[in-house]
Amino acid sequence: MEKFVVHGPCSLNGEVTISGAKNAAVAILPATLLVKGKCHLENVPDISDIRAYVEILEALGSKITHISKNELIIDNSNVNSAIASSELTSKFRASYYLLGSLLGRFDKVQISLPGGCNLGARPIDQHIKILEKLGATVEVRNGNVYASRKDTLKGAPIFLDMVSVGATMNAILAATLAEGTTVIENVAKEPHIVDLANFLNSMGAKIKGAGTDTIKITGVKELHQVSSYSIIPDQIETGTFMVAAAVTKGDVLIKNCIPKHMEPITAKLLEAGATVEEHADSIRVKMDKKPNAFTVKTSPYPGFPTDMQPQICILLAMSNGTGMIVENIWESRFQYTDELTKMGADISAHGTTAIVKGVDKLYSAPIRAHDLRAGAAMIIAGLVAEGNTEVYDIYHILRGYEDITSKFASLGANIEYVTDEEK
Ligand code: EPU
Repeated sequence: MEKFVVHGPCSLNGEVTISGAKNAAVAILPATLLVKGKCHLENVPDISDIRAYVEILEALGSKITHISKNELIIDNSNVNSAIASSELTSKFRASYYLLGSLLGRFDKVQISLPGGCNLGARPIDQHIKILEKLGATVEVRNGNVYASRKDTLKGAPIFLDMVSVGATMNAILAATLAEGTTVIENVAKEPHIVDLANFLNSMGAKIKGAGTDTIKITGVKELHQVSSYSIIPDQIETGTFMVAAAVTKGDVLIKNCIPKHMEPITAKLLEAGATVEEHADSIRVKMDKKPNAFTVKTSPYPGFPTDMQPQICILLAMSNGTGMIVENIWESRFQYTDELTKMGADISAHGTTAIVKGVDKLYSAPIRAHDLRAGAAMIIAGLVAEGNTEVYDIYHILRGYEDITSKFASLGANIEYVTDEEK
């Protein structure tokens, strides 16, 4: 079994560079299927979710050349299958983007029901509704999703029942090559939605309004190759280092990020008493005292991201008062609080709300990464705690954070990667 051993406590100081955005990359890789040619992608994060996507695409017939660990050329000229391996697609959530992208190119698509972090119910009814509105037939049977179309997809007005990142991405993917105009309302506005639209527009798509509540897509007959596209920096990785810098009373310059995307997190760090300096493409976070307590409520962008909720909880756990977290996106996102309680945190979580009373110290304990972002929070807790904190189930963390141990090491942390063989 593999684990991280985090030697605490420590204060983070220095510079760290942010990788490409996971949640943009997992939409852009399948989006390349819409073009019968080559796409050259830069700033692709080297994480296990991307390696899994590369495997899925290769199994469909894509030819993928690794120029470097963060630069790929994907050639989809010879993709001739739209039946994705169920073993691979069932492993992670973002495989549902194959529905929209493959249906743009093929008459019949099959994927497995997507897996991913266990954050509570993760229905795909909005994805299905979108594809049906565009003229497809969708059936969910025996753990698989089957989508088919008799003719080309046809543009249509679509109103999403709730703001969904994945459904918005799939609508964009499916409508790009559809005949006519699609107007989607009540869409998600996350930076990765804008990045997907920018990528497709760079190949000749006609997508307007990404980043607002309404997206209009005028279908085009085909897309052309793209010579080079650089994926945006990861908002959540940036936020993770911002919180880690503040809670360890450090001073960290976080490079290759987009400060505008960080505003909801910056606002909470300022409330906590940190100093946050914004530069053109970097942010410096400094903190030299115990954090003030605050209330945080998650909501779709530009609100406070649910994917930063576990990390910000560590700041509250070490605060000088009582704070509150209200989780409005996922129904089971507080499972990680049991792990923090083992370390001496004072957290009472019920339903959508957690009350967090600040304590003076956390102490090491064997703890689990319940999901990707909770895993990042466990590392931050280990950096604050007295002693050696063992973090198990780290495969969750490796899904979404590139070189996490060496990035923290460059800031002065000591995190060991240990496998059974090395014990
Ligand atoms: N929802 C439905 N029906 C649908 C789709 C969503 O009811 O058809 C509900 C969900 O149950 C949830 C809410 O709508 O309550 C929002 O879900 P959304 O569709 O926005 O989430 P997602 O697309 O499945 C992405 C990220 C998640 C992130 C959420 C919210 C990717 C691959 N995943 O998930 O990221 O938490 O948006 O911002 O982009 C992570 O990176 O660790 C992660 C979990």
